[in-house]
Amino acid sequence: MPVLDPRLIVALDYPSKKQALEFVDKVSPELCKLKVGKELFTLSGPTLIETLVSKGFDIFLDLKYHDIPNTVKRAIYAAGQLGVWMLNVHALGGYSMLLAAREGIDMVGTNRPYLIAVTLLTSHSQEDLDQLGVDQEIPEFVDRLADMAISAGLDGLVCSAQEAKPLRHRIGDGPLLVTPGIRPAGADPDDQQRTMTPEQAIADGSSYLVIGRPITQHADPAAALAAINKSILD
Ligand code: C5P
Repeated sequence: MPVLDPRLIVALDYPSKKQALEFVDKVSPELCKLKVGKELFTLSGPTLIETLVSKGFDIFLDLKYHDIPNTVKRAIYAAGQLGVWMLNVHALGGYSMLLAAREGIDMVGTNRPYLIAVTLLTSHSQEDLDQLGVDQEIPEFVDRLADMAISAGLDGLVCSAQEAKPLRHRIGDGPLLVTPGIRPAGADPDDQQRTMTPEQAIADGSSYLVIGRPITQHADPAAALAAINKSILD
């Protein structure tokens, strides 16, 4: 297990296991956790997770489950046995699905991963909600989904850094808030529309920051991580 609890989660958005592992060799569990998403997991599966866990990294398996409650419960239980640190589901799957997900994670036992919920994807616009027949403004809908996830017993939420402050105020200090869209001052925003610096995101109540390209495409990822870690020290 890592000695420290780094608050940075690097998004391993690579199209092959080889490239992902080449990056991983440049960093360490004391500097960052790692996020494995749908592309890399579909390509490389549980063996990659086992490799990363054996290297001592905390892994956020970002598969955003959304299915009937029984299927989600079983998938969460299966994922929980891979030794990952964090898993997630879509709050849009509904309250029964969230309760089932919580049951699935509890079946893993006392060393279970954290289970968090995505509220509304930041790629969704008000027009998307209108098309779905959701007659609510995005902020109110995000609040509704957040309340549902927390009352179903989940450990926290994935949300945009901009939503962290109001959500932290709403749900209190206990639940985790995991926020993407992070860019150190002066970094290229890439395709992120609204970014926030690590310092501001932490000040606004984020528990963990997801950051990808500013680290994965940096000439010296370990130095870049060390600099950000230093900037967010309490
Ligand atoms: O490279 P970058 O820092 O933009 O990567 C951000 C990571 O967070 C990517 O893996 C992306 O899919 C994920 N993410 C996001 N925005 C969300 C949810 C997840 O950028 N709303």
